Amino acid sequence: MDKNLSMQELLASFENYLINNLPQSKTFHPYFEEALGNMLKAGGKRFRPMLLLSVVKSNNNLLVSNSLPIAYGLEMLHTYSLIHDDLPSMDNADLRRGFETLHKKYDEVTAILVGDALNTEAFKQIVDSSLHNDIKIELVKCLSSNGGIDGMIIGQAIDCFFENKRLELNQLEYLHIHKTAKLIAASLKMGAIISEYDLNVQEKLYNFGIDIGLLFQIQDDIIDETQTEEEAGKTTQNDQNKNSFVNLLGLEGAINSAEELANKCENTLNELDSNLQNSLKELLLKYLYRHK
Ligand code: IPE
Ligand code: IPE
Ligand code: MG
Ligand code: MG
Ligand code: MG
Repeated sequence: MDKNLSMQELLASFENYLINNLPQSKTFHPYFEEALGNMLKAGGKRFRPMLLLSVVKSNNNLLVSNSLPIAYGLEMLHTYSLIHDDLPSMDNADLRRGFETLHKKYDEVTAILVGDALNTEAFKQIVDSSLHNDIKIELVKCLSSNGGIDGMIIGQAIDCFFENKRLELNQLEYLHIHKTAKLIAASLKMGAIISEYDLNVQEKLYNFGIDIGLLFQIQDDIIDETQTEEEAGKTTQNDQNKNSFVNLLGLEGAINSAEELANKCENTLNELDSNLQNSLKELLLKYLYRHK
């Protein structure tokens, strides 16, 4: 891949990699292997892998192929978080990515174990890739901390524990930064690690990703309030007991916050160096204003 890839081409190469590398489990279990691939194949926006690949593309098109397993690992970890998020003990949702959730289609045991498997497979994708070992270690550090205890996991724990208990605005921000923004920030940073951008650029992209991630979650909360499950492809009107931005700020307040943050993100985008800007612009402009 040495030519300048468009966003569609980048997405197509990701989808192609995914479909050709579905997790395998060839045993006498009647449906476990099928269940492993079910939610990966179901689609979704692929926002996180596209962020990673776009950063890689900004510096070197030739590195895109070798980065596909990393982008896939990131999508696996995200997909696992959705499968567990939908379980009866968490958000109890029946629809995801336009299909029945795994615990509905199969059973709860399968949903839990497929989630566990995608979590570990995510790191296997990184370890088995052909990147240099020191880069792989940095990637594992970044994904494990932002997708783990210091990131998505504590965010989900707080999200669920504080159902029906009102958080202060600063606690709400803490919750959403951890639950959602850190993995999105890690997506940009992992692209920067692969590209061997210096630490300053890595940090700048990470901080940018925190803002993008917060915006993404505000928009997600607006979607829960305003869209049907057909439109969203997932169970909606499901945040009644949550500390969502809509519940704390009201719908109009959440839309105003999203607008403000989207403007901030667009300004940050315009301050990035021109290669990064060109590479990220189309993708980001597609998502920055989706609350409108
Ligand atoms: C949903 O993520 C959960 C959040 C963190 C908001 P996405 O909106 O990226 O879900 P998919 O990947 O497109 O299905
Ligand atoms: C989940 O947030 C974020 C994750 C870490 C999975 P939500 O519970 O709002 O995500 P949806 O709305 O079910 O996709
Ligand atoms: Mg949830
Ligand atoms: Mg949910
Ligand atoms: Mg939601």
